[in-house]
Amino acid sequence: MARVRGADPLVGALGRHLALAGFMGAGKSTVGARAAGLTARPFVDLDRLIERRHGPIPELFERGEPEFRRIEEETLAEALAGPDSVIALGGGAVLSPLNRERLRARAFTVYIDVGVETAWERVRGSNRPLAQREDDFRKLYESRQALYAEAADAVATDAEGVLLVSLGIQLHGLPAPPGAVEIVADERVLELHPLPLEGPVHTLAAGEDAKSLAVVERLWSELALGRGGTIVAFGGGSTTDVAGFVAATYLRGVPWVAVPTTLTGQVDAAIGGKTGVNTADGKNLAGAFHFPAQVIVDPDLLATLPEKERRAGMAEVVKTGLLAGREVWALPEEEMIRACASYKAGVVLSDPYETEGRRARLNLGHTFAHALEAGSGYRVSHGEAVALGLLAALRLSGQPTDAVEEILRPGPVEADLDAAWAALKRDKKGVGVFVLLEAPGKPVVTTVPDTDAHAALAALVRQ
Ligand SMILES: NC(=O)c1ccc[n+]([C@@H]2O[C@H](COP(=O)([O-])OP(=O)(O)OC[C@H]3O[C@@H](n4cnc5c(N)ncnc54)[C@H](O)[C@@H]3O)[C@@H](O)[C@H]2O)c1
Ligand SMILES: [Zn+2]
Repeated sequence: MARVRGADPLVGALGRHLALAGFMGAGKSTVGARAAGLTARPFVDLDRLIERRHGPIPELFERGEPEFRRIEEETLAEALAGPDSVIALGGGAVLSPLNRERLRARAFTVYIDVGVETAWERVRGSNRPLAQREDDFRKLYESRQALYAEAADAVATDAEGVLLVSLGIQLHGLPAPPGAVEIVADERVLELHPLPLEGPVHTLAAGEDAKSLAVVERLWSELALGRGGTIVAFGGGSTTDVAGFVAATYLRGVPWVAVPTTLTGQVDAAIGGKTGVNTADGKNLAGAFHFPAQVIVDPDLLATLPEKERRAGMAEVVKTGLLAGREVWALPEEEMIRACASYKAGVVLSDPYETEGRRARLNLGHTFAHALEAGSGYRVSHGEAVALGLLAALRLSGQPTDAVEEILRPGPVEADLDAAWAALKRDKKGVGVFVLLEAPGKPVVTTVPDTDAHAALAALVRQ
């Protein structure tokens, strides 16, 4: 089993199995298969595995439920001994105290609950031994509730919800860390919104200016938290990046909670455990992986976001939609944010520390974007640069550019092409390597000949 690194507390399904519990008809198999696909983990459907080994479950039940439960315990133990997987548990698996204990030790367990009505509609008329009479089914559902609640670390209704809780992400709600708390907050956000919880506040200059080693040193010296304390970050990506880095390093690492207040933060920056600051040599050059214990995504906070910041976030939304192969930008805001956050959570869970190459896909459009930012002396904003970078990636992929053009309306920018090209060649992720799309939803990491890459970059710069 992959170990969680360094000072990371146990967060969600990082470094352990993701088990799905729930009643018959909750959709554990369907949700589990989707979650496994999105996190690139093996999928174990416990009941199907039992059937492959021992024959149809109705026949096993005829030999008596205790015998079936014994086989179920044995099969679950075997699955838990394997590589980190998504495991769909049978409806009654959590009845066994032994199973519950093993799950607590080795898995993050999510209770999938769709309500008794939906569950019954899905299973009525099937040959499931415990779903033959509606009143028995309802009684059994009621009697199992407390057990699921006890066995589960979190609750969800669908695959997106499973991915979110598996990285500690929740929509709405408030931070609830155990023990002492100190809050690191963006000054502008503090003027506009009440604090998400009480505690001493450390105010940061608005935006990117806060991402410096000077701020890190200031916070190291101001913080009076013990090792049991938690840092809560309240602001956009700049705030969560620096506060997360301070949390990674203060007393060799304390837990932290992110409350992102920008669209970029809610769909991207606060998710995935990358923290850091800028140095004199460039952006994000010092940092650490340190996953937040909780990420509270509250779309209501975006009501005060300036248009420029919203557009910047939309560039990451369009990027996510292209990667996921879904027009997420057309969804109502809250669903859009949920879809993007869960997509990123899935990719991150598939490669938490960027060692498998899978996280690289999140850089779609970013090789060109970083080049344009550098080539313009950072006068071109990240959002504008990403919009143009997506355009270049789609053109090189031979894919339609209409979504990017309609939603983001990028136009060529003032930049020094030679400087941008030099930056692109220097980019550690861009040494001839680009993320392209074979089709929407099918990213590939590949090389592009210099002449094509140069022409694509030149087309983004105002001549
Ligand atoms: N760690 C990661 O994985 C990751 C991913 C993407 C971006 N980032 C980083 O995130 C940073 C950008 O973050 P950002 O785009 O969220 O911007 P930001 O945090 O720099 O904030 C941008 C501006 O919006 C203001 N603001 C924030 N919330 C507001 C609100 N609710 N209402 C009104 N104004 C508000 C801020 O005061 C600031 O002026 C960059 O430093 C980037 O490197 C990190
Ligand atoms: Zn970006």
